[in-house]
Amino acid sequence: MSNFKKYLNFIRKQNYLENFNIHDLEQSIINGCTHRYELCLLLQYYESTSIYNLYNGVFNIQDIPSVSHLISILHFVYEGLDKLKDMFTHYDLHTDNVLLYKIPNDNYVKIIYHDTSKEYHVKSKYIPIIIDYGHSFINCDEIDRSINNSNQIFTTVCNNDIRSDNPVCDGVCGWDSGFFYNNLPNKDNYYICSRVPNRSHDLKLLKSFRNETNLNAIKDTSPYLQEFSKFLNNVFFQDQYGTPELNTIEMGKINNVEQAAEGLRSIIQMPDFIQYNENLFISKKKYGTLHIWVDQLKEFEFTLD
Ligand SMILES: Nc1ncnc2c1ncn2[C@@H]1O[C@H](COP(=O)(O)OP(=O)(O)O)[C@@H](O)[C@H]1O
Ligand SMILES: [Mg+2]
Repeated sequence: MSNFKKYLNFIRKQNYLENFNIHDLEQSIINGCTHRYELCLLLQYYESTSIYNLYNGVFNIQDIPSVSHLISILHFVYEGLDKLKDMFTHYDLHTDNVLLYKIPNDNYVKIIYHDTSKEYHVKSKYIPIIIDYGHSFINCDEIDRSINNSNQIFTTVCNNDIRSDNPVCDGVCGWDSGFFYNNLPNKDNYYICSRVPNRSHDLKLLKSFRNETNLNAIKDTSPYLQEFSKFLNNVFFQDQYGTPELNTIEMGKINNVEQAAEGLRSIIQMPDFIQYNENLFISKKKYGTLHIWVDQLKEFEFTLD
């Protein structure tokens, strides 16, 4: 507790943002295009595991406790992706790119989701964190118009038309130098294009669970497990590594992150899921409460118990 307070005070005393110089950043990005080892992104280190490690790469749908943790984790991830669907597409969302911060001492956090008309909660021993933004589309226009979006980074930095007969830089863009400039998303690049958003591509994480799981193996007849199995089965993802954006609403199909969030949201509100989730933590201690306003009326809030 005292460490946490010290840390917060330390953060408050910093004035990184006041000293932040947009021209330095622009120059670093321009240099980084041809000298990629000169540019890096520093992230806080998370003492964590990944979804991949949690399941040792093998997902067993008959292991009911781990399925219920997985449902809470996936709901948390897709609730965020849904809200940011026009501002962020990860483009490489797989089980090793979602880290899980484990609440210390086998405690749990209560995550309260505030939505326009209602409020619901889940107890969880993990807080998921998405990492590895190398191929991501980001649009910060609403946050800061001077930074703008990942499309502008490409058009400003890449003054080398890679489609021309005489490109200035050597090698393959995104591997030898450059930031993986793709002019348009298409089948050949698995629809990965950091210059435009794609509301369907981040279904890749769900697709991997669907493909690795024998859904018929569920012995338990709990309604929420049946529903989760149906949900995974309904995920549409065209190719091995990518899919074009699909905004159509089709009965029995999950075509984009919005529909994924909707599906997972209704599973975590099913009476038997709520009961199971409560029972899992009955003898455990609450570490804190995380409030998330999915209607984006407020920033998230975390309070320690
Ligand atoms: N902020 C972090 N805290 C702790 N571990 C991290 C962090 N970022 C990355 N890692 C670890 O390093 C691995 C590789 O990092 P990642 O950014 O995914 O790069 P790559 O492009 O090689 O996949 C991750 O799967 C994770 O295990
Ligand atoms: Mg990675």
